[in-house]
Amino acid sequence: MVRDTVRDFARKRVAPAAEELDRTKSFPYEIVAELAELGLMGIPFPEEYGGGGGDTLTYALAVEELARIDSSVAITMAAHTSLGTMPIYLFGSSEQKADWLPELTAGRKLAAFGLTEPDAGSDAGNTRTNATLDEGEWVIDGAKQFITNAGTEISGCVTITAVTGGQTGNGAGGSSSARKEISNLIVPNGTPGYEPGEPYRKMGWNASDTRPLSFDSCRVPESSLLGPRGAGFKQFMQILDGGRIGVAAMAVGLAQGALDEAIAYAKERQAFGKPIGKFQAIQAKVADISAQLEAARLLTYRAALQKDAGESFTLTAAQAKLITGRLAVRACEEAVQIHGGYGFIEEYPVCRFYRDAKILTIGEGTDEVQHMVIARQLGL
Ligand code: CAA
Repeated sequence: MVRDTVRDFARKRVAPAAEELDRTKSFPYEIVAELAELGLMGIPFPEEYGGGGGDTLTYALAVEELARIDSSVAITMAAHTSLGTMPIYLFGSSEQKADWLPELTAGRKLAAFGLTEPDAGSDAGNTRTNATLDEGEWVIDGAKQFITNAGTEISGCVTITAVTGGQTGNGAGGSSSARKEISNLIVPNGTPGYEPGEPYRKMGWNASDTRPLSFDSCRVPESSLLGPRGAGFKQFMQILDGGRIGVAAMAVGLAQGALDEAIAYAKERQAFGKPIGKFQAIQAKVADISAQLEAARLLTYRAALQKDAGESFTLTAAQAKLITGRLAVRACEEAVQIHGGYGFIEEYPVCRFYRDAKILTIGEGTDEVQHMVIARQLGL
C-alpha cells in the first residue's frame, strides 16, 4: 500500500516538478510538505513518536519509488529519515526524543547528519571538530562538509561527531577512530556560532540541500550529548549501516526509472523503418539491465529484511550499496545511449538521471569503503 501511494504521488506530484526544481536548484519545500502530510517523512519510527510505525522494507520501498522519478526528493527524505532522525531515535535520552522526534517524524523540521569533514571523508574517524566542556556547556569548533538538509528554512538540527578527548583507544589497525574520543552532539539551527555555509554547485541532486557547516565557539548545553561520551563513532557507523540500505534503494529506484524511460523511448523512436526497441542491440541493453536490476533489488530488500529481523546486516547493506550504485550508473548510461542525442538534452529525464547517478558510488561510503567493510565482515 505504501509503495502504491508513493508511486502515485511521485508520478503525479514529483514528475511534473522535477525538471524545473533541478534546473533552478530549488529545494522542494512543497513536495516535502506533501510527503509529510502523507506520513512519509518518518516511516520507520514508532507511532508514539509521531512516526509511521513502518519497517525498514517499507521505508526502502518508499525511497525506491521516489528515486524512480527524482533523486533530489528521494535523498531529502532518505537523509532526513535514516541519517538525521535515526540517531536521535536510537541513541537519544527521553528528553531529547520528546524535544525533537515529534517535529522531525512529522516532517515539519528536517534533521541533518554531520560526520564528514574536509579531512574526514572515507577516513571518518579522522574528525578534527572538537568540543570541550566549559561551565556546563560544550564549546564546539570545527567544520563539516557535504552535509544534506542542514541549511533549509525548515532545518531543525544537525547531529555531529566531535572529538571530546584524546588517545582513548589502542589504535589497532591504524584506525584514526581508535585514537580519539569521539562523541555525538545535537546542535539546533540558530545556535550562535553554528553557520551552514553556501550551497555547493553540484553535478546532480541539484534540488537537494548540501552545504559545508562551520562551528566557531558554538555553545550548546551539556545535555546535548547524544548517548554516552566516546560512543559517537560507533553510533554513526551503526547509522551508516542503515543509511546504506536507503542509498541502495535510491540506486534501485534510479536504475528502474532509467529503464522505464529507455523502454518507453525504444518503443516510440523509429529508425530504419521500425521502433529501435525491435533491434537486438537495444534489446540486449534493456534485458541485461532489467536482469541485474532485479537481483540488486532483491539484495537490497534482503538487507532491509535482515535489519527488520534484528539480524546483523552490515555485510548485506554494504554489498547492496556497492552493487546497486554501480548498476545505477550503468543503467543511466545505457538509457542515455538508447536516447541517442536526445539523452544529452536536459528536457529528457535520463539526462538528469545520469548526473544524479554518480554520487551513488560515493555518498554514504564510497565503493572503496564498501570493499573495506565487506572484506572486514568476511574476516580479512
Ligand atoms: N557498527 C558498529 N560499530 C562499528 C561499525 C559498525 N558498522 N564499524 C566499525 N565499528 C566500530 C569498530 O568495532 C571499532 O570499535 P572498537 O574500537 O571497540 O574495536 C570502531 O568502530 C572503529 O572501527 P574501525 O577500526 O573499523 O574504524 P576505521 O577508522 O578503520 O573506519 C570505515 C572504518 C568503515 C572505513 C569507516 O571509517 C567508514 O565507514 N568510512 C566511510 C564513512 C562514510 O560512509 N561516510 C559517508 C557520510 S554520510 C553521507 O555520505 C550522506 C550523504 O551522502 C547524503
